[in-house]
Amino acid sequence: MTQALQVPTCLPRHVAIVMDGNGRWASQRHLPRLAGHKKGVDALRRAVQASIDQGVSVLTVFAFSSENWSRPAAEVAGLMDLLSLVLNREVDALDSNGVRLHFPGDRAGLSERVVQGLAAAEARTAHNQRLVLNVCFNYGGRWDIANAARRLVAEGREITEQSLSEATALSHVGDPDLLIRTGGEMRISNFLLWQTAYTELFFSPCLWPDFDASEMACALKAYAERERRFGQIGEQVQQPVGPQYA
Ligand code: IPE
Ligand code: IPE
Ligand code: MG
Repeated sequence: MTQALQVPTCLPRHVAIVMDGNGRWASQRHLPRLAGHKKGVDALRRAVQASIDQGVSVLTVFAFSSENWSRPAAEVAGLMDLLSLVLNREVDALDSNGVRLHFPGDRAGLSERVVQGLAAAEARTAHNQRLVLNVCFNYGGRWDIANAARRLVAEGREITEQSLSEATALSHVGDPDLLIRTGGEMRISNFLLWQTAYTELFFSPCLWPDFDASEMACALKAYAERERRFGQIGEQVQQPVGPQYA
């Protein structure tokens, strides 16, 4: 039997996204910035569906950074209200769609109502298995590392790469295989500093509210064409492990 020659292709198990560009999307349309954030929720819904359709197992998105508190007070308040609205409106559909929610991030500074809403959404969807959706809210990579170290010290445990990984806010999932940043900026902005040590990076000029299944497919295709060497040389790298990307 002859075997077709095929370039090995591979699907990322875990995709992380810096959802950037909401403000510029709104400004281009002479709309208030919050209109861009609202449109961003539609884009997140599309990203979740595209992840499920493509067979991605974990999607981790950056929704509000430790540094975003320094935005104008009205925008911060609008983002907090939007989170409450999304918790009220979207959790039913996500639950029916088999999505398990997590909200990695610092609960300090969030209102009691929001904290309860996050815990309720996590508990309600805990049994789901189709997609893990991590919505990083009041999250910072430096906070995550410092918090993990603090926890280990408090428990009297030794700090090793393994124990620190296990103490981070993303310990329930493996490291991201692919990080997408929309909005054209080429920086990490204090996202998953510890977890992205060997993540493939994909930067898109697309503003987040315009993100759709074809943008996701574009990023997945780029990922499939990368060679992940993890410090080795090309000749040592075997066929990538994981589901095939069509
Ligand atoms: C990302 O969009 C969303 C948050 C940071 C909450 P931005 O609001 O940063 O949009 P730009 O970068 O100003 O266009
Ligand atoms: C990163 O975007 C944070 C989120 C997408 C939530 P920012 O717009 O805050 O990043 P900087 O400040 O331009 O680096
Ligand atoms: Mg931005």
